Amino acid sequence: MDCAVEIVEATRGDAPAIAEIHLIARLVAMPYLARPHTDDETHAWFAGSVGDRPAAWWVARRGHRVIGYMVIDGEELDHLYVHPDSQGQGVGTALLHKAFGLSPRRIVLATAQRNARARAFYEKHGFRATDFTEGDNEEREPDVYYTWEPPR
Ligand SMILES: CC(C)(COP(=O)(O)OP(=O)(O)OC[C@H]1O[C@@H](n2cnc3c(N)ncnc32)[C@H](O)[C@@H]1OP(=O)(O)O)[C@@H](O)C(=O)NCCC(=O)NCCS
Repeated sequence: MDCAVEIVEATRGDAPAIAEIHLIARLVAMPYLARPHTDDETHAWFAGSVGDRPAAWWVARRGHRVIGYMVIDGEELDHLYVHPDSQGQGVGTALLHKAFGLSPRRIVLATAQRNARARAFYEKHGFRATDFTEGDNEEREPDVYYTWEPPR
């Protein structure tokens, strides 16, 4: 039986599952992206970071399985990733709706200019592109900045 998806605050115990989703979702969506860290370094970073701020780390769970996560710190949506097996089923939309509730006046984020699927997803949800960089990030990958504000 399929369980409903719940969006709940992450616990430190979710760190290994979150790290796995981060690695596999990036690899599938952006195989061209430079990888400045080993998988072990990425796991260690998440082990030390998940739950480091109240109400910032959120997971999408189906039953006991973590299938997506996001990090929202004030107005900044830092990460939004859904496991490739669970994409196209409304999980990203459910996480984004939680973000709209947590930051109802404004949300800003950056994504890779080449990440066409993510860009289409954000634009469909009302984000507008505000800036383009040449790669002001660890991967030296050109980014696009997006802003969402509620309709007046
Ligand atoms: C971008 C990303 C977060 C979107 O998450 P997702 O769970 O696939 O998104 P959703 O399922 O909510 O919406 C995506 C599509 O599924 C469709 N969909 C299918 N079933 C759905 C349902 N039950 N409810 C809502 N939408 C559904 C939506 O209409 C939408 O279609 P479209 O965008 O092709 O028009 C996800 O693809 C991802 O993790 N990508 C890799 C990582 C990444 O690029 N992250 C962003 C970097 S900042």
